[in-house]
Amino acid sequence: MKTTTGYSGIQISLHWLVAILIVVAWFTGEGGKAAMKVVEKGGTAGFVPHVAIGLAILALVVTRLLLRLGRGTPAAPGEPGSLAVLASDWGHRLIYLLMLAVPLGGLCTYFLGLDVGDLHELGANVLMVVILGHALMALYHQYVLKDGVLSRMMRPE
Ligand code: HEM
Ligand code: HEM
Repeated sequence: MKTTTGYSGIQISLHWLVAILIVVAWFTGEGGKAAMKVVEKGGTAGFVPHVAIGLAILALVVTRLLLRLGRGTPAAPGEPGSLAVLASDWGHRLIYLLMLAVPLGGLCTYFLGLDVGDLHELGANVLMVVILGHALMALYHQYVLKDGVLSRMMRPE
């Protein structure tokens, strides 16, 4: 993976756009089981927004991964190889894994009729918990360690 001095404007825009869409997807997924019963009978149960937002997330996450591969990302702050840097790198990988697996699970349930709705819901809830930890770490870096990590997800370089 290439190492850069900062995130590009498009990487930053995608980070915040996907963050907002994930929260919206999480709330619109509420009552998904009941909605699926209506969908199975040919209705929509107002579930189209959830599916559309979820599919948009999937497309935007794939775009982000391609950008990471092509352009790279800045190194996590701290000593290379230290526990903090490893935790940051693997934490981000876990978020990417969940950001792909959760919408793919939803897709398999909705379009292919596979019985993975519960897994989809579990994955979405795990993603929310991991993201909460991620946001707290970002705030800890910015306001306690004062190493400007949050600023670099605000200002393109
Ligand atoms: C659904 C919500 C969120 C998701 C899915 C998410 C995901 C990610 C991912 C995957 C990265 C790795 C860098 C990249 O490839 O873009 C990242 C970086 C970052 N995120 Fe988030 N994020 C979310 C919300 C937040 C929030 C609420 C904050 C701030 C409070 C935040 C602050 C940051 C910062 C500062 C970085 C840069 C870290 C670094 O460069 O080491 N994120 N985020
Ligand atoms: C990151 C993106 C997504 C998040 C965070 C998310 C979140 C959720 C949540 C929290 C539920 C729980 C429903 C409940 O309370 O019963 C749910 C249900 C559901 N979602 Fe998603 N979803 C995402 C993407 C998608 C996509 C792309 C699709 C379809 C193409 C989809 C289809 C479904 C279906 C069919 C259910 C009902 C599952 C069941 O039978 O229990 N979701 N989603």
